Amino acid sequence: MSTRPNETAPEHEPDPAAAASPDTDPAAEDRVNPMWGGHFSVGPAEAMARINASIDVDRRLYAQDIAASKAHCAMLVAQGIVSAQDGEAIAQGLDTISREIESGKFTFKAALEDIHMNVEARLAELIGEAAGRLHTARSRNDQVATDFRLWVRQAIDGLDRQLRALQAALIDQAEAHAATVMPGYTHLQAAQPVTFGHHLLAYVEMLGRDRGRFADARTRLNECPLGAAALAGTSFPIDREATAAALGFDRPTANSIDSVSDRDFALEFLAAGAVLAIHLSRLAEELVIWCSQGFGFIALSDAFTTGSSIMPQKRNPDAAELVRGKAGRVIGALTGLLTVMKGLPLAYGKDMQEDKEPVFDAYDTLSLSLAASIGMIRDMRPDPAALEAATKAGFLTATDLADWLVRALGLPFREAHHITGAIVRRAEARACALAEVPLSEMQAVEPCITEEVFEVLSVARSVASRTSFGGTAPTLVRAAVAAARERFL
Ligand code: ARG
Repeated sequence: MSTRPNETAPEHEPDPAAAASPDTDPAAEDRVNPMWGGHFSVGPAEAMARINASIDVDRRLYAQDIAASKAHCAMLVAQGIVSAQDGEAIAQGLDTISREIESGKFTFKAALEDIHMNVEARLAELIGEAAGRLHTARSRNDQVATDFRLWVRQAIDGLDRQLRALQAALIDQAEAHAATVMPGYTHLQAAQPVTFGHHLLAYVEMLGRDRGRFADARTRLNECPLGAAALAGTSFPIDREATAAALGFDRPTANSIDSVSDRDFALEFLAAGAVLAIHLSRLAEELVIWCSQGFGFIALSDAFTTGSSIMPQKRNPDAAELVRGKAGRVIGALTGLLTVMKGLPLAYGKDMQEDKEPVFDAYDTLSLSLAASIGMIRDMRPDPAALEAATKAGFLTATDLADWLVRALGLPFREAHHITGAIVRRAEARACALAEVPLSEMQAVEPCITEEVFEVLSVARSVASRTSFGGTAPTLVRAAVAAARERFL
């Protein structure tokens, strides 16, 4: 069913002033919230009900809400605050609600505002008076903070599994192409030869740090706010250690006001998510470039490309473009929630109800972007011949030539750089590669150059020589593949 009280399109809406006044609105009484309506004689205006209700969004917290309620109830019984009999009825009622929601039989009501009151009201329908004892020594403020932390914790665990799978796909491709040469770029100008495997392993490192950022955020968020109640704690003899442990938290939060008023755990999740989105976007952009006709470095699979309705020859990298584009949503979610939280006085403010939509959307976006990225990388077919052919242009081994002049002739690097520049100019004039410049012509620039220089001018030799720690030599890339499997998989 629709949970929005009014889904009418704006042009069909009744007079906005009438809608704003409960006194002239005969339906207002139907909107009275039975959970708090005690001293209200008339229900909220239609627009009030609509701006207040969050059930369309926070129903996604139902499993966490029920789990936290069960933990709270068990603790109330253990502490002698609620009878064992009532506790049993509450726990069974909550299990019934869980089944109802999972099977789609639960009716969510906008008049009950949010997931917390929808669950509690249904519990009252199911078990009667005992349901009212569940809310002893807690408030929706600590309830929502607890539910949301549990949800974000689970979201982090889900993203971590996907990040690991993307790393695995990249590592497999890197292993297959540990010795496949390609141009490495700076300024998107061909710079020095590298291996395709080495390039892919750069993303494995980025994603490893993304996992680390999420793990850090998870460690900090894993404290339980339940029992902070509205903001000040409670006079009941509750056991916060017990509820924290039952819900898998490391410990209860230390300050009741902080417990209900901060959402930095959600901000950290979004911040880590925004950085991840940027990494995925850069990878996606490279896929777009690599599969374009000017490059032709890789082919993407049918499963992750689309055709054109007018140009029969087209194969468009839509999935990669969308991963690139969707980064904007995740960054927007972070800036959106930062702006909501900025300047809010302690403790809880209803503004904070705006915290869930950006987090849910960012999670959905990241999860889908990761799924698409995993598929694209697994299916991607690099073209070693095209990658190698691209190394022929751009005098990629110019640095190797300069290094040889330093090593073999003992020249200062600055002078070697200058001499190499002059040789590159001659190669340009002859429209040939550096390795094809005749020795006599090189000697015209620097008489001490010998035949041996040609040994360093091949692309294969160049990458093989880059053996400094973290370098692109195929031997190191193979070792880095093995190390990455140890570190990340
Ligand atoms: N739906 C609310 C939220 O998400 C729950 C907490 C409401 N607390 C309150 N004092 N009105 O923030």
